[in-house]
Order: sequence, then structure tokens, then C-alpha cells
Amino acid sequence: MRPQRASYYHSQLARFAPRARAPFSGRADAAAVVLTDGTWVPGVRVETASFSLIIDAAVNAVTTALASGRSDFAAVVLSAPVPDAQVAYLGDLPFARLRQIDPVTFAADAFVDELPEVGEALDPFLNQPAPTSHEDGVDLARAAAAHAYAPLSEFPVGCVVAFDDGQLLPGVNVEHPDWNRILCAERNALGTAITYGVGPARNIYVSCPRDPNASSCGACRQVIAELAPDSAIVMDRGNARPESQSAKALLPGSFTGSAIPTRRRKTR
Ligand code: THU
Repeated sequence: MRPQRASYYHSQLARFAPRARAPFSGRADAAAVVLTDGTWVPGVRVETASFSLIIDAAVNAVTTALASGRSDFAAVVLSAPVPDAQVAYLGDLPFARLRQIDPVTFAADAFVDELPEVGEALDPFLNQPAPTSHEDGVDLARAAAAHAYAPLSEFPVGCVVAFDDGQLLPGVNVEHPDWNRILCAERNALGTAITYGVGPARNIYVSCPRDPNASSCGACRQVIAELAPDSAIVMDRGNARPESQSAKALLPGSFTGSAIPTRRRKTR
């Protein structure tokens, strides 16, 4: 039995699903995290040519919510049933006890029969003017890191992507008991950008407050190469000047997957 109000999210997910980036599987999936005050957070599936770096719709929605400092989950609603590993991801979220109600609905105990009264979709954009210096940009990324969920590594990472149109989106690393499903801050922000339909990315500001020498991992470099090829990555260097490098310089010869067949979208 579906909880009451779930049908509202199904109609919203039908609106968001076409934004999914699913050239390889054709699975234009979407998910919504419903927060306890009725605010809801969409996420779409994001495929990359390096298949092991694909971001599921639910992971995208969950990590968008966390980057905005919201972990008061009432439910997660999916546009379509998912494989068991993705079910486990939602069932094992450390900051929200959700149980599966039906193939596409996961709810906290208080919301099993009825989801919260429907509110607005989350506005994840930072309410700030675009930074005019790299220093200002990394300051924003450093502030974003306060929302990181990193109990396993104790290594918070914050990211803010500045788009050509001046909009700003945050990302944080979000850890999970299944270490393979941890999402880095950079990929979190880029996934949110696809859900909300913004781009192209100009500057990707990154801060690892515990390590002023850190640098984006190879997985993030690959995803940046695919989703934001003309961007620059600007790393927080603590008290020293931020270090800026183009995406192309960060991963020369990146995998393009140009020989992988693409498929038409499945409409579900
Ligand atoms: N991490 C990022 O968020 N971005 C990177 O580029 C490097 C690694 C996160 C992932 C994990 O939560 C923690 O840092 C340790 O790897």
C-alpha cells in the first residue's frame, strides 16, 4: 500500500525524469527525498562513460539534500523499482531510518501511512553573488564542507560549482556504511546540476579543510572531464593562494567511451 500523498511525487518525478542523463541504459530514473516539513529534493540518474561512476537517482537526491544541510528525511520516492543494491543503499542510510513500503517508496516510521503535507521543491542554489576571486570561491567551498557527512574518513570535503550564468551549487562528500556507494563532493554538486538543469560549469571550487594539499580524486576528475570539460578546478590551499587547473590539464587522455553504444530512453 502506498502512503497517502505519494502520488503527488510520482507526478513530479515524471517531470524530472527527462532531465536524467541516461544515454547508455536509457533508464531515465528520478527520485525524490521528502523532508519532514514537506520540502522535497529531486534527483535524476546520471550516467558517465565510465560506468562504475554512474550516480543513481536516489543517491543524487540524497546527496543534494545533504549538501543543503538537510538530513531530516521522511521518505524517498522512486520513479521506478531499483536493483537490491540500491534498495540497500536507502535502507542503510545512517542519518535516516527508512523502511521499504512498496517497490518505489521508503518511509520513516512516522510517515508510513501518510507523507508530510506537500511543500516546495528544495532550492539548492547558494543565495550569493558569483565569487569575483578564487579566494572568495574557495571560501564558499570551505563553508559548504560544514555539511559534509564523513563519519568514516573524518575528512570533510566541500565544493561549490559556479556556472556560466552566475548560479552556484554546493556539494559535499556523503559517506555510507557501504563504502562503495560514498559520493565525493565534486560529483555531488555535478549531479545536482543535472537534476536542476544548469550548466555549463565554469569554476569548481573545492576545499578539504583538514588537508590544504589535497586534490580532486581520479574518479572526480573523470566525471568532471565528462560533465564539465571546459571548467577549471580551484583548490583551497589554506593560507596560500588557491590553485587553479583546467579540467583538461587535470586528466589528460581521459576515457571518453566514444565507442560505447547508446540507447533510446525507456519510458516507464
Ligand atoms: N573525497 C571527496 O569528496 N573528493 C575528492 O576528490 C577526494 C575524496 C571524499 C570521499 C570520502 O568521503 C573522503 O573524501 C575520503 O576519501
